[in-house]
Amino acid sequence: MQGLQEKLFGLAAWDSGKITDEWFRVHFDHAADIVHDWLGQSLNLSKARLLNFGCGDGITDLALVLRHGAASIHGIDIRREYQKLPRIAREQLGMTRLPAALRFETIVPNSPLAGRVRAFDGIFSWSTFEHVQRDKVLPILMDLHACLRAGGVFFLQVEPLFYSPWGSHLGRYVDVPWHHLMMTQEELWRAIQAYDGPINPTEVDFGFDDFGVDGYKQFVFREYQALNRLTADELVDIARQAGFEVLREKRQSHYMDMPIPPTLQARYPEDWLRGNEIFLLLGKT
Ligand SMILES: C[S@@+](CC[C@H](N)C(=O)[O-])C[C@H]1O[C@@H](n2cnc3c(N)ncnc32)[C@H](O)[C@@H]1O
Repeated sequence: MQGLQEKLFGLAAWDSGKITDEWFRVHFDHAADIVHDWLGQSLNLSKARLLNFGCGDGITDLALVLRHGAASIHGIDIRREYQKLPRIAREQLGMTRLPAALRFETIVPNSPLAGRVRAFDGIFSWSTFEHVQRDKVLPILMDLHACLRAGGVFFLQVEPLFYSPWGSHLGRYVDVPWHHLMMTQEELWRAIQAYDGPINPTEVDFGFDDFGVDGYKQFVFREYQALNRLTADELVDIARQAGFEVLREKRQSHYMDMPIPPTLQARYPEDWLRGNEIFLLLGKT
């Protein structure tokens, strides 16, 4: 029905000039552009069937359709944040109807997809694999490998990596680089509770209002405690074990000039402490 409406009348009108929310903007512009750059070199997005593993609120998926012409994206997540996307698109773009190219699904954590979905041409995942339970990373990557057609590609990004200055994801509350490697859990939680300043608007997601100020603190602290702490090398190694070939890899640090506290220098390799982001293009032969 929606597809037919779109065939007859085209996509609902949208206007990026209406964007006011910084979380929306970084996903609609920055994240979507990078996914497009990496996948677009191997796939024609206007024809490819794509899977987004850990789609969150779906803003990046919406941008890939609107700004980069993606024809089909199936977003999956263990939460239901994507249910807010119609409202968010209305508020931030003036868009009254989501594109028919988008489909979202909530999955039981760590449940396999292979066998119940048609093979995808491409898969992507943005800031999600640091949240997957450590012992589930290999089975999930094996499952995603099985869901990809031969010759297909998987773009996997993680930021921030755990041992980097803001690898806790708690930098919005604790303004000390590498705090999570130097403070006890109790000290960290007390610092978060005590914080009553503003939060960087690029880090305030659309779930914030559901939780309220204190509930959001509890939520992000639980998320921090559940981080799998994978290093970039471990992630690459597991991706290979899952059957993927690494076609392209980029590691970056935005903190090359940040002085490392001597106590950490003695405990961790410098590349763990500085490297905050990894991009991988994984292939299936
Ligand atoms: C930091 S959010 C990123 C969401 C989205 N990619 C974005 O850029 O806004 C991490 C997402 O991974 C999802 N997630 C965590 N573990 C997962 C799993 N095992 N399977 C699918 N999604 C998962 C979370 O629910 C959350 O939406």
